[in-house]
Amino acid sequence: MPGVLGRIFSLLLAPLLLCSASDLRNASQKTFEIDYSRDRFLKDGQPFRYISGSIHYSRVPRFYWKDRLLKMKMAGLNAIQTYVPWNFHEPQPGKYQFTEDHDVEYFIQLAHELGLLVILRPGPYICAEWDMGGLPAWLLEKESIVLRSSDPDYLAAVEKWLGVILPKMKPLLYQNGGPIITVQVENEYGSYTTCDPNYMRFLLKRFRYYLGDDVVLFTTDGAQDYFLQRGGLQGLYATVDFGTGANITAAFLTQRKSEPKGPLINSEFYTGWLDHWGEPHSTVKAEDVASTLYDILAHGANVNLYMFMGGTNFAYWNGANTPYAAQPTSYDYDAPLSEAGDLTEKYFVLRKVIQKFKEVPEGPIPPSTPKFAYGKVALKKLKTVEAALDILCPAGPVKSIYPLTFIQVKQYFGFVLYRTTLPQDCSSPTPLSSSRNGVHDRAYVSVDGVPQGILERNGVNTLNIMGKAGATLDLLVENMGRVNYGRFINDSKGLISNLTLNSSILTGWAIFPLDTEDAVHSRLGDWGGLDGSFDGKAHSSSNYTLPAFYVGNFSIFSGIPDLPQDTFIQFPGWTKGQVWINGFNLGRYWPARGPQMTLFVPRHILTTSAPNTVIVLELEHAPCSDNDPKPCAVEFVDRPVISAAVTYNRPSKPGSRSWLGHVW
Ligand SMILES: *[C@@H]1O[C@H](CO)[C@@H](O)[C@H](O)[C@H]1NC(C)=O
Ligand SMILES: *[C@@H]1O[C@H](CO)[C@@H](O)[C@H](O)[C@H]1NC(C)=O
Ligand SMILES: *[C@@H]1O[C@H](CO)[C@@H](O)[C@H](O)[C@H]1NC(C)=O
Ligand SMILES: *[C@@H]1O[C@H](CO)[C@@H](O)[C@H](O)[C@H]1NC(C)=O
Ligand SMILES: *[C@@H]1O[C@H](CO)[C@@H](O)[C@H](O)[C@H]1NC(C)=O
Ligand SMILES: *[C@@H]1O[C@H](CO)[C@@H](O)[C@H](O)[C@H]1NC(C)=O
Ligand SMILES: *[C@@H]1O[C@H](CO)[C@@H](O)[C@H](O)[C@H]1NC(C)=O
Repeated sequence: MPGVLGRIFSLLLAPLLLCSASDLRNASQKTFEIDYSRDRFLKDGQPFRYISGSIHYSRVPRFYWKDRLLKMKMAGLNAIQTYVPWNFHEPQPGKYQFTEDHDVEYFIQLAHELGLLVILRPGPYICAEWDMGGLPAWLLEKESIVLRSSDPDYLAAVEKWLGVILPKMKPLLYQNGGPIITVQVENEYGSYTTCDPNYMRFLLKRFRYYLGDDVVLFTTDGAQDYFLQRGGLQGLYATVDFGTGANITAAFLTQRKSEPKGPLINSEFYTGWLDHWGEPHSTVKAEDVASTLYDILAHGANVNLYMFMGGTNFAYWNGANTPYAAQPTSYDYDAPLSEAGDLTEKYFVLRKVIQKFKEVPEGPIPPSTPKFAYGKVALKKLKTVEAALDILCPAGPVKSIYPLTFIQVKQYFGFVLYRTTLPQDCSSPTPLSSSRNGVHDRAYVSVDGVPQGILERNGVNTLNIMGKAGATLDLLVENMGRVNYGRFINDSKGLISNLTLNSSILTGWAIFPLDTEDAVHSRLGDWGGLDGSFDGKAHSSSNYTLPAFYVGNFSIFSGIPDLPQDTFIQFPGWTKGQVWINGFNLGRYWPARGPQMTLFVPRHILTTSAPNTVIVLELEHAPCSDNDPKPCAVEFVDRPVISAAVTYNRPSKPGSRSWLGHVW
């Protein structure tokens, strides 16, 4: 019974050593708490200040977790901060993913082993430029659901999820021998319209129930009175977030209005900023980040650098802002560690600042990984989406008079093909319209296999099409990522309102939910070889080719020292689409819009034991066609390009100041 002995021992010793009150409990017990009398944290009774950096395990392959964490430690950080994206772990109601790249417990353990503390942000809403701010799309099955509120169906789903995730986190709390020192509840709730204190009270109760009374729970809001008043709650320690432009004194005075005593904390100090397709890549100068970091630390404040390592929105995980603008695949964020984990100038500049305030570990910093230019890989057309429907949608279509949304056909990500027939002859150009901006988010339109053009949310709502009565009208609709911030996070995908042809509502739809992942991953053998057919219908003068899959491969011969290495894939002449290598969904490419031109390819998905298979789903216009002998190719290069010049003019673009202020 060491427990009993330990208690007797500590009771005997405590008065002699004149320990602080917390030590009376158990001399060997670990504690992490707020010292309200001296405006600081106490860790095991000792004054403590964290200098933390954000890294999201969902944006870095597990293969590289240790490398990135070690680099963060060597920068002098004593803590890391991560979000837990609910939708990453519960893709379908009640079906959970916690292994491999989803193994959040292992990630936290790894940080622990490297001597890093962890600031956990388990949501349930996280924003994060992540699809729907981390909320699972299936919540939208109840059409009237009010997210982030006391809506009973929302709370029931949250309750169930917290009952899964928080018990996993409990043994990892600092008090229980793990690295988690503090836990954030919700995220920037003061910026959301609902303003429902009962929801926050519900969360507080559940967090306490699962995590106990000892852990420090906190909230984070933009450093303005308005946000803190709406986002804070008695019992949750209020912290602020701000970037380089802010008046630090004023920002912390704002926190002081909510928390007159206790540590000053900037939970998100921005090292860079997010991107959108079609807008210039965001950067923040290293010296500005450095001087603001210096000032924050000189204030005696705790700080988390958001992001320290941004990473990648692989597959379909990017979010979007409104008026609709999707974030690209790269989440480089202009952070001190690049998307590929490389040490940047900002890394070393910030390390020097940290060194002025605390000891920074001695010894070698893990170097940036080598990158390899594997060169050009020829691709051939495998099949159009239309020709591959039996592989992409083996169960066949859902029939409906009017269009159904993605959620209504239980498709959460990727693509759905909507098919009907033309009720009338359109021998002259006839307007196909989504009068209520109801194409979420982009539709690639064809009639009898002839591409007609594109409808785009907040962009193009009408398109003139041509075809005979009875011809097949196909719209391949792409979900480009759900809105992650603001009122419109309840972002349904697909055709969310009726389409009209020359003002009459189109009816009689066959709706094909496409399981692209299964088709390119497990069922490649079923594709029946290349589509050798001559696509005679496609006009070579057209700006569009039918959405189609292209395939190619490249070998990395074994025995070449140090191969495979990381690389970047670029898309000369390609327009927009999705790319997989060996079945791993790398994300979206859109060089026609930029600013991102290359996608990061981590080496662990490459192999020397067989040819590496590249599959491209080009949605808009391939650089080659069947009646054109020049092959299509992608190219593997050794440098990323994520900041190409962009010329695209979004029809309705919010002012950049309001983006920065997080107010729109
Ligand atoms: C004191 O803390 C140690 C380490 O956390 C634990 O093993 C022991 O059971 C605790 N004793 C009591 C009496 O709480
Ligand atoms: C989304 O939620 C907002 C606020 O709760 C509501 O006003 C709006 O009607 C909802 N939109 C959709 C498409 O359900
Ligand atoms: C920063 O804010 C403080 C407190 O509100 C104020 O006194 C000071 O003038 C501000 N500094 C600048 C440069 O605006
Ligand atoms: C569209 O409808 C109008 C009025 O109903 C009709 O006059 C016109 O011919 C139609 N256009 C086409 C291309 O069918
Ligand atoms: C489509 O139009 C029909 C008939 O007007 C209407 O009942 C239905 O609600 C509409 N569907 C959508 C998704 O707007
Ligand atoms: C192709 O696009 C260009 C530039 O946007 C436009 O001027 C041209 O009319 C388009 N051609 C066709 C056949 O749609
Ligand atoms: C790989 O590509 C080469 C050249 O395009 C082709 O000859 C070969 O059949 C392909 N191999 C596989 C396994 O797809």
